[in-house]
Amino acid sequence: MADSGGLGDPGFAVYVHWPFCLAKCPYCDFNSHVRSTPPDEARFVAAFQRELAHRAAMTPGRKVRSVFFGGGTPSLMQPRTVGAILEGVAKHWQIEPNAEITLEANPTSVEASRFRGYREAGVNRVSIGVQALNDADLKALGRRHSVAEALAALEVGRSIFPRMSFDLIYARVGQSEAQWRAELEEAMKYAGEHLSLYQLTIEPETIFERLWQAGKLALPDEDLGRALFDATQEIAEKHGMPAYETSNHAKPGAESQHNLIYWRYGEYAGVGPGAHGRIVTGGKRRAQSTEKHPEMWLGQVEIEGHGLVTDDPLTQEEQSDEYLLMGLRLREGVDIHRYEAISGRRLARSQIESLAADGFVTESGGRIMVTPMGAPLLDTIVADLAA
Ligand SMILES: C[S@@+](CC[C@H](N)C(=O)[O-])C[C@H]1O[C@@H](n2cnc3c(N)ncnc32)[C@H](O)[C@@H]1O
Ligand code: SF4
Repeated sequence: MADSGGLGDPGFAVYVHWPFCLAKCPYCDFNSHVRSTPPDEARFVAAFQRELAHRAAMTPGRKVRSVFFGGGTPSLMQPRTVGAILEGVAKHWQIEPNAEITLEANPTSVEASRFRGYREAGVNRVSIGVQALNDADLKALGRRHSVAEALAALEVGRSIFPRMSFDLIYARVGQSEAQWRAELEEAMKYAGEHLSLYQLTIEPETIFERLWQAGKLALPDEDLGRALFDATQEIAEKHGMPAYETSNHAKPGAESQHNLIYWRYGEYAGVGPGAHGRIVTGGKRRAQSTEKHPEMWLGQVEIEGHGLVTDDPLTQEEQSDEYLLMGLRLREGVDIHRYEAISGRRLARSQIESLAADGFVTESGGRIMVTPMGAPLLDTIVADLAA
C-alpha cells in the first residue's frame, strides 16, 4: 500500500466491535444494544472467526500493528471470548512483535474483576470510560459507576496492563470553566500515558438530543465551549500530555497506535456488528461497513460468511477528502505529497497561503497543520483545501 509520505507505512489494524451494554447512556449514539439475557458468546466467537477469515482473504500478507476491542462494552465479554478472537487474528495475519492490543472497559467493579483474564488473553492496553470525576455528573450522564469505582478500576488497570488510558467527557450540563479546570487537574493525578478528553456532543436520536431540543439541557454556549477546550489544552500540555489529535492526549511515544492508523489513513479491517473498515484490494481503497443489528449480523455471517452491508471502492476525490479530514485532526498534520498522490491533483498554493494568512493553518517540512485557532473550523478548512 502507499507510503504515508515521511512517516513510514501507516500500518494495518483490526477493529472488533462488541455491540452490547448493560444500559444505554443518554448521550451515546454508538452501535450499542441492551439485552435482557446475556448473548451466546460461543455463537458470536464462531461468527467473528468467519468474518476474520473473510477480511484476511482480502488482505493477505498484512502485518497487524493493532487490534482494538471497541463497543458497546467489550468489558462485558468473557476473557476466553477475547482470547479466541485474538487467536483468530493470529491465525490469519502475522502480528507485529510490539502490537498494541486494546480493550475498552467500563469501570464497574464486576468489569474490573475480568481485567486479569483479558491480560492473560493477550490484551496489553486498556481504555477505561471514566467520563467524570464527580458522582452527580456521572448520574446525569446515566453512568452505572461511581467515582470511587472508577478510581478503583484505574488502580486495578494500572497494576495489570502495561499501558492504560481513560476517557473524560467535558462541557457537561451546568459545568463552569473553574469546575472543569479543577476536575482535569485532579484527573492528571491518575493519568498514566494517555487520556481522551471529549467535548460532549449532542448526537442525533439520543435522549440528550430530545432534552436539548425541548430546552431542558443547559449546555455550555459556544464561548464557554471554546474556553473549556482551551483550558483542556493548557492543562494537559502543562502536565506533559499535549494533544496529538483534537481529543487525544499522550506523553510523547505513548500515542495510541490504533488511533494513528486511522488518522494517518492506514488500513483497518472492521469485524462485528456495525464495524467500519478501510482496506486496499486490487489497488483500490474500499469503504466497508457491517450490519449493525447484532442478531441480524450473526444470521448474515452464518449464511454468507461475512456481515458486510457496504463494500465500495472509494473514488480518488473521496479518498483525498477522507485523508484531509482524518489527517488534519492530527497535530502532525498531512503530507502534501501524499495528498497529491492520493488525489491526483495539486493543492492550490493560493488556498494554503490564504488559510495560513488567516492563522488557521501552518505549513512546514512539506506538511500542513491546523492551528488551535483553526481546529473548530476543520470542516471548512478541508472544504477550502479540497476546492
Ligand atoms: C462508545 S464509548 C465506548 C466505551 C465504553 N462503553 C464507555 O462508555 O466507557 C467510547 C467513548 O466515546 C465517548 N463518547 C460517547 N458518546 C459521546 C458524546 N455524545 N460526546 C462526547 N463523547 C462521547 C465517551 O467518552 C466514551 O468513553
Ligand atoms: S457510552 Fe459506552 S456504555 Fe454508554 S451506551 Fe455508549 S457504548 Fe454503551
